[in-house]
This record gives sequence, C-alpha cells and structure tokens, in this order.
Amino acid sequence: MMKTVNDIPQGELKGKRVLVRTDLNLPLDAAGEVSNLFRAKRGWQTIQYLSEKGAKVILLSHIGNDIEDSMAPVARAMKKHFSLFYVPDIVGNAAREAIAEMKEGDVLLLENIRRDPREKKNDESLAKELASLADIYVNDSFAVDHRVHASLVSVPKFMPSYAGLLVEEELEVLRKARTPTRPSFAILGGAKFETKAPLIKLLLQTYDHVFITGALANDVFKARGLPVGRSRISAQLPEKEVLSHPGFLAPVDVVVEREDGQAQTKKPEQVEDGDKIVDIGPDSLALIAPYIEKANFILWNGPTGLYEDGYTSWTHAVAALTAKRFADGASVVIGGGDTIAAIEGAGIKQENLGFLSTGGGAMLEYLLKGTLPAIEALG
Ligand code: 3PG
Repeated sequence: MMKTVNDIPQGELKGKRVLVRTDLNLPLDAAGEVSNLFRAKRGWQTIQYLSEKGAKVILLSHIGNDIEDSMAPVARAMKKHFSLFYVPDIVGNAAREAIAEMKEGDVLLLENIRRDPREKKNDESLAKELASLADIYVNDSFAVDHRVHASLVSVPKFMPSYAGLLVEEELEVLRKARTPTRPSFAILGGAKFETKAPLIKLLLQTYDHVFITGALANDVFKARGLPVGRSRISAQLPEKEVLSHPGFLAPVDVVVEREDGQAQTKKPEQVEDGDKIVDIGPDSLALIAPYIEKANFILWNGPTGLYEDGYTSWTHAVAALTAKRFADGASVVIGGGDTIAAIEGAGIKQENLGFLSTGGGAMLEYLLKGTLPAIEALG
C-alpha cells in the first residue's frame, strides 16, 4: 500500500531534509521564459504542506530533454509566486553547502536532474548520491512517473519514501477513469496511432463511446480508404476490429489547410492532394454533442486540431460542451499538456473545466496499465 506524506507522523517532519521529486518541466516561450505555471501551481500544495510542518524542502525536477537545459527560467518564474532559493547544482558541493545552510520551512530548487547522464540510465550511483542529500523522499511528479529514471525509481530504494498530495489526487481520479460511471464518453487525440492502439482498444471496452480526433483521425480516414492529402499519418493504421466497434466514433467533417494557406471545411471524402487536415468541423461537433450532453463521465486527452498552428476553435467548442456537463454534475477528466494549452484561450476558468491532470504520457500509461514505474517504486 502506497504511503503518502499524510502518513508521516506529526512532528517527524520538523527539521528534516525532504527531497521532493516534482515535475517542473514547464513550457518555455521563444525568449526561453516560462509561459505557463499550471504544473508548478498544482505541485505547490505538497511543498507548502512540508514547509509548514518545518521540513527543509529540496526540490528536484527535470526540464526539457537536453543536457544543456537549465531550471534557471523555472526558478525565475516561480520566485514571482513562491518563496524559494535556487542553486544551479545537483549533487555537488554547491548543492550540499546550500542544503547545509537551509532553515526549517525553506524551499530549495536544484538544477535540472537530466544534466546528469546517469539519470536516464537509472544509475544507482546517482540515486545513492541523491539519497544522501536528504532524510525523506517524496514523489510528487505524476507527469514523469512513467519514466524509469534514477530520481524516480531508484532513490526510493535508499530512503523512506512517500507519495505527494498531487500524485495521490491524480491516482484517485484516474483510478475512477479506468472504470467510469455510465454513460461514459472518451475523446482521444494526438498522433502516433501505434503508441495509442492498446489504450484505444481498452477504452472501447470500458467506455460506452470513444471519439478519435487530432492526427489519429487522419489514420482512421486513411484506413477507411479516404484521401488524406498532406496530412500527418502514423506508421500503423487502426485495424478493422477498432473501426467497426459499435462504440467507435470519428470526425465526419474536417478543416483543411489548402496549398494556398486558406482554411476550408470539407467532408473527409472531399480532401484533395494539396490539403492538410488541421481540425474537425461543425458536423463532427454535432455528432459528439449528444454523447457529451448525456455522459456522466468524460475523459479527454488530446486537442481536436493542430492547436500549435492556431487551429483551436473546435477544441474550444468541445471544452464549452464538457464544461457545461461538468457544471451539471458529470465527472470530467482532461489531460495532456497540449489539451490544456489548447483549451486555454477558450475563456473558461480552469476550475470550471473539470479535473485537469498534469500528466500527458503518464496519464495515458496509467489509464492503460493502472500503475506507473515510479509509483511501484514507492512500494
Ligand atoms: C511531460 O512533460 O510529459 C513530463 O514532464 C515528462 O517529460 P518527458 O516526456 O521528457 O519524460
């Protein structure tokens, strides 16, 4: 049974050094500054809890995927909202000296853990060095808990380990999403059909209806022998078993970007060689609206369109429908950084959208398997 920070006996935290593996892999803008603090804000409850109990809170995270990436912009952005120190070091002398000077309640952010090549290799020597920095380990990094990296799965072997409050909340909600109350409706977008195929098959068993959107819908059109023009297509296409499932739904119209750059709404069979499918259209929204309006449980991962190129209108329209259903009492679980970023301009307050998971890949893997490597590591 996984223990959480609430299981640490009262008084035990005072003066203790607590290493919190958190996920501060925040999006950066073109100038290299943090553009969105959603994850940081969601993760702060655990940090605050530990700090208020008198712990010395040492934060550890990755950012990006490059050995050069630094937590410096994250530290700059977080300092505007929270009280913390930053030391651009991980397990070296600078980090150790900064930790030695910490007072009860202080929060210290270390450098990007992926700067150490041993992290991704899940090297136990790094895990031991990290464990030597603190007395207690807390995993509150749900969004990266599907990775088998040293700071996630090996550190717990060397020190008392607990789950943080965000991880606890994510697991509680996503556990329910694995066995949703009916009527249930799932919306799955994104790309790379081959990576999503097992989950789509599972969702078709557990949800009454599953709507496939985003670039995955292009794979559906292609598998049905429809033209897809210049649209993004996956290496593997959906099989007949998926396409003919009674609960399976796909867009019935699309927005294409023509060769001249103009957007146009069409039926899938009208897509031309020069067209790139960039979103669903109004008929597709009309198709799914009755399912959303009746659903007691809605799961949504992946925008309907190429939001990074500005095609957000139909994602916003879906968000308006799900938010209405949430206001009427349905459970709504939305995940994936892309989905949340794409919904942002819809003018709906985050708290009115439903439960927003901080996980993208982690959410999908948890839904498929019901556990994650870093959760297993907590015992
Ligand atoms: C994410 O952004 O989904 C997590 O931080 C995981 O990051 P990664 O895909 O680089 O491991």
